[in-house]
Amino acid sequence: MALFQLILILILSSCMAQDEDIMTPVVNIYSEIKEIKASINRLTMDLNTANNELAEQNSLIEELQKQIKESPKVAFTASMSATESTNRGPFSTETKLIFDKVLTNIANAYDPVTVFTAPVKGVYYFRYSGSAFSSHDMGLSVFKGTTQFVSSYKYNSGERNDQMASGAVMELEVGEEVHMRLWIRSWIFVGQHYNYSTYTGYLLYPLDSTSV
Ligand SMILES: *[C@@H]1O[C@H](CO)[C@@H](O)[C@H](O)[C@H]1NC(C)=O
Repeated sequence: MALFQLILILILSSCMAQDEDIMTPVVNIYSEIKEIKASINRLTMDLNTANNELAEQNSLIEELQKQIKESPKVAFTASMSATESTNRGPFSTETKLIFDKVLTNIANAYDPVTVFTAPVKGVYYFRYSGSAFSSHDMGLSVFKGTTQFVSSYKYNSGERNDQMASGAVMELEVGEEVHMRLWIRSWIFVGQHYNYSTYTGYLLYPLDSTSV
């Protein structure tokens, strides 16, 4: 009996000793601090990288804002003026149409006496509309310099109003001119109050003048 008790005590005490080790593991405070230091270093490096990227992106945003602000803005719409409802044409030759009633002229690139002249190299959009003088033919073209670009034509279709419109995207160099022409022996209606016949253009986007 005494032996059995002794063995039991031995087993129990050895278990308790093991339990104590498991319950309170030895913490090496120095290696913990070392690890914490290392992760602080990593975090600091990450933060620096993030800050640098942020600074780069901020300067990029500033640059883009500047570009948007400084990018040229060109847009116009013009119609034709008349003291009473009348027509332009017919002429015995194809004739430049003067849209003298300026409704919008951003950056003043449109000259109502002459033509539109591209102030910057870029891609432009032009649109025109023509109201037909009843019982007459109407032919309209938009010219890029001396080149006919797009046209529209209608035959005399009787006593009624006809309206036509067309447009084109053009790539223009600085100083290139774009104007409208009325075809030979054709008519265009000019209302006194109604801006039926119009010529519109605007810069879609500028092109780098150094690029080919
Ligand atoms: C025509 O343009 C003038 C601006 O010159 C404007 O006052 C008028 O309302 C326009 N007429 C029509 C019918 O759109």
